[in-house]
Amino acid sequence: MERLILAGAGVVFALFAGCNPSTSPSVVGRFDPPDSLYRMMRIRTAEMKKLREWLLQDIAVADSFQRLYWPFAFADGIPTEGMHLTPMFPVYDRVFSRHYDSFYQAPSVGRYNMLVQTCEGCHQEHCSGPLRLIRRLYLEDHRNE
Ligand code: HEC
Repeated sequence: MERLILAGAGVVFALFAGCNPSTSPSVVGRFDPPDSLYRMMRIRTAEMKKLREWLLQDIAVADSFQRLYWPFAFADGIPTEGMHLTPMFPVYDRVFSRHYDSFYQAPSVGRYNMLVQTCEGCHQEHCSGPLRLIRRLYLEDHRNE
């Protein structure tokens, strides 16, 4: 159920955060597995916002986080026509998947920020439109205080 909510939220969000406004795809069926890279990004973005909200509220209940766990590889997504992927793309993809799993194994602000960092790294290479949005996802880490 949570997945459907995320997919829906992503659609709304995509209206103002696109990196490729000329090729805005039509709204895709919410029940499909994510096949386009574009749709994967929208799902992950909505997921990150949710995680951020929970971490901010200190809802550290493992069960809540686990409901959002939805592993898939960006490398399996079909990019929008004209989107050029550099050789760094699969590298960032693998790093992201690794951080993704370790976050869900033991959710923490530090691990969440590692995810944001990977979003940011790949976006510095590929699609700079969402960078501002991505940087706003960072959370302050109070571990050392
Ligand atoms: C491995 C590289 C990579 C990683 C990691 C990555 N992205 Fe992306 N992202 C892309 C590429 C490439 C596109 C363009 C996709 C397309 O147009 O087909 C994109 C598109 C987007 C978009 C624009 C979608 C739209 O609505 O137009 C957003 C927002 C986005 N990413 C957010 C994120 C967030 C948040 C993360 C981290 C959770 C993330 N990305 C991680 C490469 C990456």
